[in-house]
Amino acid sequence: MQKERVYIFDTTLRDGEQSPGASMNTEEKIKIAAQLERLGVDIIEAGFAAASPGDFDAIRRICEVVKKSTVCSLARAVERDIVKAGESLKDAANKRIHTFIATSPIHMEHKLKMTPDQVIERAVEAVKLAKSFTDDVEFSCEDAGRSEMPFLKEILDAVIEAGATTLNIPDTVGYRLPQELGEMIKELHEHVGDRAIISVHCHNDLGLAVANSLFSVMNGARQIECTINGLGERAGNAALEEIVMAMKTRSDVFGFVETGINTKEIYPTSRLVSAITGIEPQPNKAIVGKNAFAHESGIHQDGVLKCQETYEIMKAEDIGLEKNRIVLGKHSGRHAFKERLEELGFDLSQEDLNRAFERFKVLADKKKEIFDDDIRMLIANEITNI
Ligand code: KIV
Ligand code: ZN
Repeated sequence: MQKERVYIFDTTLRDGEQSPGASMNTEEKIKIAAQLERLGVDIIEAGFAAASPGDFDAIRRICEVVKKSTVCSLARAVERDIVKAGESLKDAANKRIHTFIATSPIHMEHKLKMTPDQVIERAVEAVKLAKSFTDDVEFSCEDAGRSEMPFLKEILDAVIEAGATTLNIPDTVGYRLPQELGEMIKELHEHVGDRAIISVHCHNDLGLAVANSLFSVMNGARQIECTINGLGERAGNAALEEIVMAMKTRSDVFGFVETGINTKEIYPTSRLVSAITGIEPQPNKAIVGKNAFAHESGIHQDGVLKCQETYEIMKAEDIGLEKNRIVLGKHSGRHAFKERLEELGFDLSQEDLNRAFERFKVLADKKKEIFDDDIRMLIANEITNI
């Protein structure tokens, strides 16, 4: 069966940078962009050209480095923004302008102070202007998650007519539940047909951004907007690593689609982004958290040492880690302790092993984690006849 492509649109450098405290300088953005290209991201949203001269410059410089992925520049549906976006992409090998305007009643009335007809007119003008810089134009209905379906269909028809090739449906405030967003995407996908690609952009205010993205794919979305480590405004955006690994791990469900991501670059990319932004994923964060492939309890350690799949649904190696991590602590058992001793080069008699294990348990009651040096000390101090 021919698999359909799900395009991965990474917005770490734009929406991700909107995380409080995550701003990056141009050199840092270039490093991340180059790594995103290695990761196999299809579209890199490099910034918001009109936001500042620094953002404009960073996009321009990223275009000099990135040659395979498409470089995208964000613009409000405003003439100045679109012209800036177009200029920032002048040297890109593959370029996209992403223009947006809000479509929910609350945003149109209170923020934009525009009527729905004025919003459509502005969206059409924006797409037409963007089209004069590149054929690849994405249009986003900001706050689509709280917009009305008839209006969404009307504005999408108008922007398709004006030349938009990707239609993004952002759940800007992370309000939708997976089932609901899935139904919404299904209806829009049926309406749009093959006139344009449907994209989703999910925020994580209720912790549902990844689930919402996955339900969208099941219902016809073929572009997912996401960020490394789930960085982004407020509670963040959908995490790229979680979406990609969910689709890979559950190929029984997602076997009809594929991405171009080289999953072995996931961990190096995550580390680079956290080193640059100073924002460390929580230890229990799925896929890239420090504990995501760590086992502490004796039962689990014994299980994975006998057969990895007993407690692991993915391989650490698949995301670019060397191997899973057996953490020695008070819940650890004899099997893991013995393995670690052997790795450290100790070959103890049964009697010494029993004594060492007893000492280890006493020490483990006092310390959260037992490191290799603790074991070396324990053997040197306590097991005198080796
Ligand atoms: O969350 C959002 O609606 C956005 C748009 C600019 C796509 O980030
Ligand atoms: Zn967003």
